[in-house]
Amino acid sequence: MSATIIDGKAFAAKVREKVATHVTRLKADHGIVPGLAVILVGEDPASEVYVRNKGKQTLAAGMNSFEHKLDAGCSQAELLEVVETLNADPAVHGILCQLPLPDHLDEEEVINAIDPAKDVDGFHISNVGLLGTGQKSMVPCTPLGCLMMLRDHHGSLSGLDAVVVGRSNIVGKPMAQLLLGDSCTVTIAHSRTKDLADVVRRADIVVAAVGRPEMVPGDWIKPGATVIDVGINRVPNGEKTRLVGDVHFDSCTEVAGAITPVPGGVGPMTIACLLANTLTACSRANGLDEPEGLTV
Ligand code: GUN
Repeated sequence: MSATIIDGKAFAAKVREKVATHVTRLKADHGIVPGLAVILVGEDPASEVYVRNKGKQTLAAGMNSFEHKLDAGCSQAELLEVVETLNADPAVHGILCQLPLPDHLDEEEVINAIDPAKDVDGFHISNVGLLGTGQKSMVPCTPLGCLMMLRDHHGSLSGLDAVVVGRSNIVGKPMAQLLLGDSCTVTIAHSRTKDLADVVRRADIVVAAVGRPEMVPGDWIKPGATVIDVGINRVPNGEKTRLVGDVHFDSCTEVAGAITPVPGGVGPMTIACLLANTLTACSRANGLDEPEGLTV
């Protein structure tokens, strides 16, 4: 058997198109333009690339993009002041502080200083609590993108066994909450899990989010299962490098029913969902119906 490839690139393009259509309508009907502010501290090259891409895609969707660059040595107080200014700015509907921050800064304090209604990352403790109790919240972008692809592929997820490998606050934990919200039976596995291969083998849905290149081999996968690969790992490839996921694609493809590739799977969905979250935040801030299918 060879798995169906879930094309995240094409899916993300559809999500961005849907966002752009709603943005056009918001402008025409209400004179409102959603705005996303991104804060970047320091000059980490990978973060700079992410932030540039976010800015470009925000503008392409017809939204306003604001960038705030701070020196790597900036103080916690300076960073918090930027957050406060953005919280108070009515033209800004979404705020994202690019992580990781330099070591001397307190990430948790910064995240929790963002107005929860503008927290398009869904990392604020209020949003974490709302998601965990099944209430309306801002949902972290990567897990939201994974859920959209799973719903699209399966229709209903109700009753399916799902295993999330990885317990990060950014992906693993919110992913498990979303799957539980869709009535899956959810297991969170991690580096200390006993008999990890057997745990993964029980799953109808495997979400791999551990950050270890090609850690999940095909013989861990139940025949016909759906495999969502969140990993983006750069590994040596002769003189050059190449990107691989957290699952071993070739062997998993032999066994799985469906699989997301790396690149071109989950990755493009993350920024598409950031745009969707910005639109959702803007709609809520203005007391308007939020667009269907762009959040949970
Ligand atoms: N750095 C890498 N991924 C992310 C993300 O999803 N949000 C933020 N804020 N920083 C990141």
